[in-house]
Amino acid sequence: MNAPQRHNSFRLDSYWMPFTANRQFKASPRLLARAEGMYYTSDDNRQILDGTAGLWCVNAGHGRREIAEAVGRQLSTMDYAPSFQMGHPIAFEFAERLAAIAPGGPSADLDHVFFTGSGSESVDTALKMAIAYQRAIGQGTRTRLIGRERGYHGVGFGGVTVGGILNNRRVFPQLPGADHLRHTHDPVRNAFVKGQPEHGAELADDLERLVALHGAETIAAVIVEPVAGSTGVLIPPKGYLERLRAICDRHGILLIFDEVITGFGRLGAPFAVDYFGVVPDLVTTAKGLTNGAIPMGAVFASRKVHDALMQGPESQIELFHGYTYSGHPAACAAGLATLSIYRQEGLLTRAAEIESYWHEAIHTLKGLPNVIDIRTIGLIAGIELESRAGAPGSRAYDAFVDCFEKGLLIRVTGDIIALSPPLIIEKPQIDAIIETLSDALKRVA
Ligand SMILES: Cc1ncc(COP(=O)(O)O)c(C=O)c1O
Repeated sequence: MNAPQRHNSFRLDSYWMPFTANRQFKASPRLLARAEGMYYTSDDNRQILDGTAGLWCVNAGHGRREIAEAVGRQLSTMDYAPSFQMGHPIAFEFAERLAAIAPGGPSADLDHVFFTGSGSESVDTALKMAIAYQRAIGQGTRTRLIGRERGYHGVGFGGVTVGGILNNRRVFPQLPGADHLRHTHDPVRNAFVKGQPEHGAELADDLERLVALHGAETIAAVIVEPVAGSTGVLIPPKGYLERLRAICDRHGILLIFDEVITGFGRLGAPFAVDYFGVVPDLVTTAKGLTNGAIPMGAVFASRKVHDALMQGPESQIELFHGYTYSGHPAACAAGLATLSIYRQEGLLTRAAEIESYWHEAIHTLKGLPNVIDIRTIGLIAGIELESRAGAPGSRAYDAFVDCFEKGLLIRVTGDIIALSPPLIIEKPQIDAIIETLSDALKRVA
């Protein structure tokens, strides 16, 4: 057996790291020690430009004192309080503030907020709400959930069931009956596009195929990411989401948008619902909800879904669902402080201001070795590389390591590089991303 790896004063082997090649990492660790604004500092004191907002969550940049102070104040006032048959004011206050900026504005009616602890929990919550809603309106046969190939909806059994990533699914059993729409990625017709691609709205008709196959009366809900992030930035073709909404309406199927990464300003509008102008029945969020400072998620439920469940004897719990940390006071404090920063600094629409510079800069990478597609929307970019023969993923991984050594954090999924910097990014930092990344792409050619 290998000797346990040591790093400075501690051993690395006790911590079983998530979504990590543990043995490879521990043989050559990358440790982040501090963070401020647009930068991390590594444990060997190097500045690392954050090209990914942590994991798509630190939208207002790192080290925001207002959030730290609000959390500190809350923890010393009341550290924890249960949310089952009890309440605490800050959770109601936060829900009300969120309802005021809810996806789609007042006419969308997505103004009831259920708190969770993460994106995965938000997804499982929304799926359960959808099934419970159908039952409440007398459609109890509708239990089937529809996801989409190349979708990512977290790691709960519900999320894995509707997700469409082989490695997340192959080892684990899934909920019975689920099915998947085809994904929308079409590099033959849509390569090197800024914003929404022209071709592919008809892929939404795949839902008609599933209705014909299973019967609408078996389908509770469809869940999609408006922009798929984890499988390499897949942007919905023009007209696709509208068509999906229309088909759902036609067949009494609820539509769920998973906005865990698009929520809170990533596209240049508060939510993808606002950006695309398509209103679903449920919206899942997390990440940017608290600027990543405290784990938390929230599901925005439409009045239709909420009200259908507020039936029966008033002494009865309407939805048998919730988490110990639903509405955690410290998370609510972090969220309230985060919303104030977003409002004061205009961050929920900042991406729209810098988007054209971002698009132009990223698309200058076209023509570099092995770059076979570039996709950009809001402050997101996906750069797809030609895989090395027999070693898929290795080229992008090498680029990731190279960038990290040169002071830039990027994210890779297979051979796709995904960028999603904090929404406070300035033009010189965009230039720095391009410079470091293009050097890396030349080195891994
Ligand atoms: C679209 C989407 N849904 C759900 C999740 C899961 O969120 P979490 O990791 O907080 O459970 C993610 C995480 O990246 C995501 O991108």
